[in-house]
Amino acid sequence: MHSEKLKNFLQKRRQADQGGGEERILAQHDKGKLTARERIGLLLDDGSFTEIDALATHHYYEFEMQNKKFFGDGVVTGYGTINGRKVFLFAYDFTVLGGTLSEMGAKKITKVMDHATRVGCPIIGIIDSGGARIQEGILSLDGFASIFYHNQLASGVVPQITCSIGPSAGGAVYSPAMTDFVIMVDKLATMFVTGPEVVKTVLGEEVSFDELGGAMSHGKISGVSHFVAKNEFQCMDIVKTLLSYLPQNSTEEPSIVNTGDDPNRLDNNLITIVPENPLQPYDMKEIIHSIVDNHQFFEVHELFAPNVIVGFCRLHGRTVGIVANQPMVLAGALDIDSSNKASRFVRFCDCYNIPIITLVDTPGYMPGTQQEHGGIIRHGSKLLYAYCEATVPKITIIIGKAYGGAYIAMGSKNLGTDMNFAWPTAQIAVLGSEAAVRIMNRKELDAAKDPAALKKQLVDNFSEKFANPYVAASYGTVDTVIDPAETRPAIIRALEGLANKRERRLPRKHGNINL
Ligand code: HXC
Repeated sequence: MHSEKLKNFLQKRRQADQGGGEERILAQHDKGKLTARERIGLLLDDGSFTEIDALATHHYYEFEMQNKKFFGDGVVTGYGTINGRKVFLFAYDFTVLGGTLSEMGAKKITKVMDHATRVGCPIIGIIDSGGARIQEGILSLDGFASIFYHNQLASGVVPQITCSIGPSAGGAVYSPAMTDFVIMVDKLATMFVTGPEVVKTVLGEEVSFDELGGAMSHGKISGVSHFVAKNEFQCMDIVKTLLSYLPQNSTEEPSIVNTGDDPNRLDNNLITIVPENPLQPYDMKEIIHSIVDNHQFFEVHELFAPNVIVGFCRLHGRTVGIVANQPMVLAGALDIDSSNKASRFVRFCDCYNIPIITLVDTPGYMPGTQQEHGGIIRHGSKLLYAYCEATVPKITIIIGKAYGGAYIAMGSKNLGTDMNFAWPTAQIAVLGSEAAVRIMNRKELDAAKDPAALKKQLVDNFSEKFANPYVAASYGTVDTVIDPAETRPAIIRALEGLANKRERRLPRKHGNINL
């Protein structure tokens, strides 16, 4: 009798493991995609996965849905370990009714999200879904609402990471957008609020799936995707690397790793990277790579708004977040996209106790009607808000130009930055010398017999007075002018000095960031 029951159970379990069945699995493979369970196998340590709710089904009978019941109901959920660290996860199973979200699917997903926030470990979502299950109507929409609610509850408590490896349509895109990092797999992932059909009907525009919502579009143009992976294998590697820099939750600090790199390592070539002519661009990444442990920099949002660089690295084994202007792109000016990118990164670092290192070389905020009408005031001020709000150790190094509002925004002293260093090549002023002279001396220049000679003299004077770090150092807004060669040891010493930083603010419900 018992053996019958056991047999019956084992059969159900085998069935559950098959998702939508063999034929659907073959169809999934034919599309060049792995199944939900294969993806989980790739991501987690061998044998570490424990599934929850494997035998859940929908309870819906309209549209002959009683004939379309599959164990799991379109999503595989559970927990396991990645390099020994516990994570909770859910993976939409496209082999079951196109991975669409049902009432039960939403209950399964929010159950693991609840576990993850209570236990204090990251949540990973793997998306391959047709969105709301049309047959379930309101139940499915309400299911999405409960997922969004849980995304918000988990925000700033445990890291949330999305792997987008298939379609993600309609409201289904908003849950990934509410997570901390989105990785999209090129050629497999698409994310859009309305698909090409609707775009054609409403706007008469012809656009392909990939152009509208593919990984490259979201990696480069919209910024929805923080990483673009070549394939599913690389996607899982990105998750693993990303997690290695993060703590399990907001009450912990990232682990300190013995990287073997000498904390006192100098680099006498650093100063040669910055050209004498301030109008000539250079690659800020060369400076970053030189400074960080073993030259390893894990860049986030590499393709989006490349005029600012953000990413993780280690300094003497401690995880830090880097925010840096990139003089190679738009001369390192801050615009709408780069302000949004850097603000979100700064806020993430602050949530998870990751010190922020800012490297500055920027001529200012980007001028022009496109930027002004697009809301550079609104978006640019987010960066100010984010730096002011952050209470983690903040260290800023001014390398070259630090002009006007962009000087202030890039971790200047009075935004609450702990340590501000400058290279002798730093130029800290309201405006660049040429622009300053054009404004201050317009009348004299208009009246001059030889305006070019006068202008040169005025510009030289201005540069000598202001285009240096010493005025700032005399006021203490730069703590120390450093030899560029000593940048790495200077930051590491500052990090060690600030290691037990505690800064408490007055209690409030939450600040009202100018979104
Ligand atoms: C029910 C669905 C479905 C859906 C797909 N299927 N989407 N069933 N509800 N939303 C079913 C298909 O009928 C099919 O079943 C199976 O899943 C696989 O789908 P295919 O179309 O054969 O696969 P493919 O060609 O790869 O195309 C996948 C797709 C396409 C791009 C996702 O199916 C699609 O465009 N679906 C609709 C997407 C959409 O508009 N979703 C609703 C968004 S609104 P059979 O049995 O025939 O094989 C939304 C609101 C949320 O999500 C609001 C929250 C705020």
